[in-house]
Amino acid sequence: MLDVEKIRKDFPVLQNAKMQGKSLVYLDNGATTLKPQCVIDAIVNYYSNLGANAHRGDYDLSLEVDQLFEGVRTKVADLINCQKEEVVFTSGTTDSLNLVAYGYGLGHLNEGDEILINYSEHASNTLPWFEVAKKTGSKIKYIDLDEQGKIILENVKKAVTPNTKLVALAQVSNVLGYEIDLKEIIAFLHSKNIVVVVDGAQSVPHQKVDVQELDIDFLAFSAHKMCGPTGVGILYGKMSLLEMTNPTRYGGGSNARYDKECQIKLKEIPTRFESGTPNIAGVIGFGAAIDYLNSIGFDAIHKHEIELRKYAISKLKQVDKVIVYNENSTGPIAFNIKGVFAQDVASLFNKEGIAVRNGNHCAKLLHNFLNTNQTLRASLYFYNSVEDIDRFVEVCKKGDEFLDAFF
Ligand SMILES: Cc1ncc(COP(=O)(O)O)c(C=O)c1O
Repeated sequence: MLDVEKIRKDFPVLQNAKMQGKSLVYLDNGATTLKPQCVIDAIVNYYSNLGANAHRGDYDLSLEVDQLFEGVRTKVADLINCQKEEVVFTSGTTDSLNLVAYGYGLGHLNEGDEILINYSEHASNTLPWFEVAKKTGSKIKYIDLDEQGKIILENVKKAVTPNTKLVALAQVSNVLGYEIDLKEIIAFLHSKNIVVVVDGAQSVPHQKVDVQELDIDFLAFSAHKMCGPTGVGILYGKMSLLEMTNPTRYGGGSNARYDKECQIKLKEIPTRFESGTPNIAGVIGFGAAIDYLNSIGFDAIHKHEIELRKYAISKLKQVDKVIVYNENSTGPIAFNIKGVFAQDVASLFNKEGIAVRNGNHCAKLLHNFLNTNQTLRASLYFYNSVEDIDRFVEVCKKGDEFLDAFF
């Protein structure tokens, strides 16, 4: 078991923040995670002691920044088991998915081709594809969810046609939290020569993801959902696919030379995708986050979250007024209090110092499937404790108070 009490001391927000005068129970980790002191220190160190741009100067400080910056690329490559050249720094999962959609999709999808998505995807993994479909004349089609709301191979097989060219799907959905069996799904899709884009925003922070073992074509994720700073993301792409991807931004840093006839000679991959000054402090902070997570261990992180979730579900089952939509998943807990607006419930949680999310969680197509407009979401991370869950469940028990507030 993780020593959660010790771990919590690494997170200043858990020590300092109060909501409504109460110590914080932070259960909105699906939106973003808190940052440990070592990540904050790495950022402060860059601004306090280094300061120079990356990839620019021939002086010592600039070289040091370069080494730190490129060192983080290697850490990311080690994390997901790829070559460092296959790691592109972006501003987040949304940016990474847009880079695949516009940089790869626009050039390789044609009229009549089919892009498969599904109703549980985040807007960041639907809207870019809608736009690319409009621009290329390709069609958006949906893989049916099973009765729990999960993607299973059988339904993938049903949705694929000879026109299917690309499938975009989250390894773990941000609302229902089911982990899909990527290995078997990707093996099937590859047997049909279909490119697979994986949204790893809710998987990479919580478990070991090996892009080679799973044979992922493109993988997108965000630093801020794994103890790192906001404004940094990763796009992993197999080199053969990155070679077929156009940059979506042009400018300084990405070109080797250009002339007045508008001929541009781009730099090597991945530099050609990273025009402009990057989020240097953010990338360096992300490096510290990866070291920190590795020091705790992804297996231990995943195990702790699963055990804590099981504990939460066993407690919630004793509360009649609670509807849980995804009892068997391993991700966030999607729930409602019977007969009460999710927003009202979220305000009551707030009064008790507990941060949970309510709404449609950017997965606007899923709520038709769930037959409700809004859900609450409690998303856990390895610094959450049994005491956090107990305080959370105590608020759920106050179902009658919600009802008084509503009627
Ligand atoms: C599954 C999923 N995809 C994409 C995103 C977008 O991530 P970002 O806002 O960091 O770009 C999120 C964020 O909540 C998410 O949960």
